[in-house]
Amino acid sequence: MDDLTALRFLVELGADEAIADAPVDRFAAAPARAEGPARAEAPLRKAPAVRAVPQAPAPTLAAPTLAAPVPAAQAVVAAREAAANARSLDELRAALAAFDGCALKATATNLVFSDGVPGAPVMIVGEAPGADEDRQGKPFVGVSGQLLDRMLGFVGLDRTRNVYIANVIPWRPPANRDPTTAEIAACEPFIRRQIELAQPKVLLFVGNISTKTLLGTTDGIIKMRGKWRDYASPGLAAPIPVLPSFHPAYLLRTPARKADSWKDLLALQAKLRSLIVPPLGG
Ligand code: URA
Repeated sequence: MDDLTALRFLVELGADEAIADAPVDRFAAAPARAEGPARAEAPLRKAPAVRAVPQAPAPTLAAPTLAAPVPAAQAVVAAREAAANARSLDELRAALAAFDGCALKATATNLVFSDGVPGAPVMIVGEAPGADEDRQGKPFVGVSGQLLDRMLGFVGLDRTRNVYIANVIPWRPPANRDPTTAEIAACEPFIRRQIELAQPKVLLFVGNISTKTLLGTTDGIIKMRGKWRDYASPGLAAPIPVLPSFHPAYLLRTPARKADSWKDLLALQAKLRSLIVPPLGG
């Protein structure tokens, strides 16, 4: 196969950026299989944090160290414990950065934890970072993020003043594929704790993944959008009103739905005003 054909083949498989000049033999860098059962058999309570197993240096340059796969149930237990122990958003970010229970961390460039103002009256929860977010380490900075910013601006919301933004998944899934059930389960305790610590007055869940995961529903966003729900959690003094709405990436593909999102944003603005949260323009 010539180079161009090989490149086309990779693009068809979903590769969308080159990350190194030389290929990395990840099988050569893999840990001995004996590690797996020993970790899996360890009692769950004795595994407060799931850490990467040190690897032998890879034979080629700059090969990222790969953690041994963490069994899904063990990852969820470790995630719950690490998230619950965080007493501030900074501690939560550090806990996530140290967490090796989600395989997406190994392929992502950066942890994408949050953007905006911690403690802001509005918190937006999206799905997972894309390529731009992965590069910059901030959520919603790509094309869909720019649309989100424009839409928020119409109702007096702005991530530099009164909005805090995070995702269910803080690492980019390769080629922007949907995160798996196991990946969502491993990350869910962190976003739930992030909401508790950020204590917004109102939540906006954009897209299916945040809506289904955090509201525990199988109903899709088309059915859920525009209807206020309560988001309750043991670490919150009172439930927070949450509005599910379309994901801006969906709006880019389906502009006819922007009218619905506009209604949702006006409803969000009215809710904020009813809760007497200054300052809102618009
Ligand atoms: N889509 C998301 O859901 N989150 C981001 O941060 C970027 C795109």
